Amino acid sequence: MIVRGVDIVNFRNISKAELSFSPTFNLITGRNAQGKTNLLEAIYLFSLGRSFRTRSLDEAIRFGEEYFFARIEGRSDAGFDFTIEAGAERGGRTKVSSNGKKAAGFAEIVGIIPGVIFVAEDILLAAGPPAGRRAYLDYTAAQISPRYLRGIKEYRGTLRQRNALLERAAREGGAPVGIEPWDAALAEKGAAIVQMRLETIREIEARARTLLDEILGGAAGFGMRYVCSFNPSGKEPGEALREALSRVRETERRRGYTMAGPHFDDVQIFLEDSEIRRFGSQGRKRLAALVLKLSQALTILDKRGERPVVILDDIFSELDRETAERVRGHLADSYQSFITTPRPDEFGGSGPGTARFSVESGVITPAG
Ligand SMILES: Nc1ncnc2c1ncn2[C@@H]1O[C@H](COP(=O)(O)OP(=O)(O)OP(=O)(O)O)[C@@H](O)[C@H]1O
Ligand SMILES: [Mg+2]
Repeated sequence: MIVRGVDIVNFRNISKAELSFSPTFNLITGRNAQGKTNLLEAIYLFSLGRSFRTRSLDEAIRFGEEYFFARIEGRSDAGFDFTIEAGAERGGRTKVSSNGKKAAGFAEIVGIIPGVIFVAEDILLAAGPPAGRRAYLDYTAAQISPRYLRGIKEYRGTLRQRNALLERAAREGGAPVGIEPWDAALAEKGAAIVQMRLETIREIEARARTLLDEILGGAAGFGMRYVCSFNPSGKEPGEALREALSRVRETERRRGYTMAGPHFDDVQIFLEDSEIRRFGSQGRKRLAALVLKLSQALTILDKRGERPVVILDDIFSELDRETAERVRGHLADSYQSFITTPRPDEFGGSGPGTARFSVESGVITPAG
């Protein structure tokens, strides 16, 4: 997938922009608070079907204006050209069209432009609490198999129903009525989730390991290990979850929610053979998180046969020059990418095929 260009009107501090992009590497530079991330937000809007920063598109409309409009033109790897247009008015009305045909809404265009984005907070993937890693795993697993998406929806539905029974029992006192079938369903669906997450990790781990070895120039000692919260001794997961539920039965009754299941699981990530979350340096955490995202991009490419667009918001700040250069090399060989930096000089060479843009007070200028 290549994004050939965008036209933007009244999006954040960008009052007007008409840009043509390089099919390889697009470097967006400018001082803080000038509009670099705003441009990425506008581009990624078409991939995600919403802003990656806010739920309310009203926020993205330029102050003092009543609407924004954006058009993106691209070409799929199979050679199909497409144009998607989107606009939003204050108060929530949106208009979306694809190749001139009106779409019902943003949901309808999701998937046309596969994309992967990496922003500063994504370092939490390596350094933060388990919820971020579960979300990463769930998202990637869903990319690999639609079966997973169904599975996780069913699991969450079962969890909700079971929690409702427990919550009522906790509130009213006494035993939760009719919980047994939900125990069985939770164990069955939970076990399926664990199984598919393990498969996902196997795929991701292999890709991330190869990438890290390439970037760090040798064996980087990368590994991923699924930590199943309810199954420390490695039993059959369904059986382990049934047992865990019977162990926590009394506490659940008091607290009023489900206390065992894959919604408490985690993934340990190792680099240079130690757990990165606890022992990794800042730069290594950033690199590991970035490589996990790039492995997602490789997964999308593998499963869909379409190169995703890769968007990286100011991620080179903590990487030493050599590491940044190798990451850049990988990107340039593999994807169309959009990268921001407030420090272009520290960025190193930008290589052939690079398009540079400088951003000042929302005005975006091609800089050769
Ligand atoms: N709806 C809006 N209308 C007009 N301006 C806005 C709107 N939303 C945000 N801005 C302005 O956009 C600017 C921030 O832009 P952006 O986040 O893209 O900065 P940046 O270039 O990425 O900076 P940094 O290097 O600090 O990340 C701020 O000046 C902010 O006031
Ligand atoms: Mg920014």
